[in-house]
Amino acid sequence: MKILITGKNGQLGRALQILAPQGVRPVFLGREELNISNPAAVASVLDKVRPEVLLNAAGYTAVDKAESDATEAFAVNAIGAESLALACKEFGVRLLHVSTDFVFDGLKSSPYTVQDPVRPLGVYGESKVAGEEAVRAALPDAVIVRTAWLYSAHGNNFVNTMLRLMAERDQLGVVVDQIGTPTWAGTLARVLYALAYDGSARGVYHYTDAGAASWYDFAVAIYEEAKSVGLLPADREIQIKPIATSEYPTAAIRPQYSVLDKKRLVSQLGLDLPHWRQTLRRALEEMKCSSGEKSAPSTTHRRTAGSEVAESMGIPGNE
Ligand SMILES: NC(=O)c1ccc[n+]([C@@H]2O[C@H](COP(=O)([O-])OP(=O)(O)OC[C@H]3O[C@@H](n4cnc5c(N)ncnc54)[C@H](OP(=O)(O)O)[C@@H]3O)[C@@H](O)[C@H]2O)c1
Repeated sequence: MKILITGKNGQLGRALQILAPQGVRPVFLGREELNISNPAAVASVLDKVRPEVLLNAAGYTAVDKAESDATEAFAVNAIGAESLALACKEFGVRLLHVSTDFVFDGLKSSPYTVQDPVRPLGVYGESKVAGEEAVRAALPDAVIVRTAWLYSAHGNNFVNTMLRLMAERDQLGVVVDQIGTPTWAGTLARVLYALAYDGSARGVYHYTDAGAASWYDFAVAIYEEAKSVGLLPADREIQIKPIATSEYPTAAIRPQYSVLDKKRLVSQLGLDLPHWRQTLRRALEEMKCSSGEKSAPSTTHRRTAGSEVAESMGIPGNE
């Protein structure tokens, strides 16, 4: 299966490169090779590459910056998504598009289903809603996967920020009154490949790892697991203090509760979802291995860590 994947240098794009299963012929493009906001460039690339599936892992993800940079956020997340959908329609390509929990207002206290109405709280969420609508309008059969709280070894994310701060500081305050689900880009990548293979998938799906946590819970788990796998010294003592959102003002308002209901995806792919803490541990183990501080990891070891997660989810691994 030939898949064209945009956003190759992002955290999801990199996970998709690492985890591409056998049998897939992926073509990865970064912004410099394909600016998705340019409809003519998108059409020309699709005409040249002629993939069976296009997976859009590109996006404008700077949630706070978007509040003062709406033009660029919409250029990527709305116009970019529309350009891809229109070109996919023209060339008969299946489209998988990635969206976000930020399409919701966070006022529920039970997981958001794919039927729940969207009501974004900020510019980033609005631009992603506009992208979803444009995709649906052009290609009703497109797959839209909403995810949340993504992290990986690469890029600007909560895990990397925490690991850096935990190495530098003795005290940290972390928001306790926002609840969601930490999600490893590796497990999302596996799910996206599985959906790419499953020609019967269409419409909106939610995917995050299983469970729920506050940012505070997530920070405490990172601290404990990082010490346990050796990314932080075992005797390192840090005080992590729960704080309210009001004590940490940001430009964009975030949903207070954005746990996603994954039933539609689970029934489509027949998955057992791994708990977020389990995948956090695996991700940190892989980070420790690639940091080279431990005994040099064998290729087999690194593959196994990813494959075990895939197997526990019932998704084919890449061996
Ligand atoms: N991060 C999260 O917590 C989170 C949560 C929910 C949903 N999502 C969604 O998941 C998807 C992937 O997110 P991510 O965390 O992997 O994002 P990321 O690390 O910020 O990567 C996004 C990638 O998109 C590329 N890009 C930006 N504008 C582009 C354009 N006009 N044309 C082509 N490429 C462009 C960026 O290129 P440069 O490298 O050149 O900047 C970057 O490599 C996005 O749709 C995002 O909305 C993310």
